[in-house]
Amino acid sequence: AREIEADLTEVLVTEAEVHAKLAELARRIEADYEGRDILLVGVLKGAVMVMADLARELRSHVQMDWMAVSSYGAGTKSSGVVRILKDLDTDLTGRHVLIAEDIIDSGLTLSWLRENLESRGAATVEICALLRKPDAAKVEVDVKYVGFDIPNQFVVGYGLDYAERYRNLRDVAILAPHVYS
Ligand code: PRP
Ligand code: MN
Ligand code: MG
Repeated sequence: AREIEADLTEVLVTEAEVHAKLAELARRIEADYEGRDILLVGVLKGAVMVMADLARELRSHVQMDWMAVSSYGAGTKSSGVVRILKDLDTDLTGRHVLIAEDIIDSGLTLSWLRENLESRGAATVEICALLRKPDAAKVEVDVKYVGFDIPNQFVVGYGLDYAERYRNLRDVAILAPHVYS
């Protein structure tokens, strides 16, 4: 198989930095949710790595459930039209929901998702996102737990894909322009 490294220009966040940050966020989450069980909701597919590592950092009880959504309305990423491709199995009534995401880009996916989950009767809905691109925001999303604010560049790895590849890269890296131009 071809090597991934040749397609990258720069590592933005190393695997070690990711894990240190998730540990830090996990300590905050444990303190904030003292005495309450958390339902972690992962957004397929990008959030798989964040979900796996954040859940294992937490020393408190959590449940995990998954949603798959499509934010591609008429082919453009920023349409804001979100469709549920796979829904949760869990009844959210009275639950403390913590959405686990890899990245907030325009914010459209998460602002829609938060409202959707709140409307199902969850007691609380908060968001934990490893990465955020402040310069790409189209809507403001109130994110309680953010790992890193990053520049508005094409990043891959740690769950993030370009054309379904690079998700298995351990670090978060900038994709070389020759790959997509
Ligand atoms: C990516 C990413 C977030 C979303 C962020 O998912 O994983 O879920 O886009 O973009 P936004 O803030 O502009 O809405 P994508 O739709 O590419 O699906 P994937 O997780 O399966 O890669
Ligand atoms: Mn995603
Ligand atoms: Mg994607």
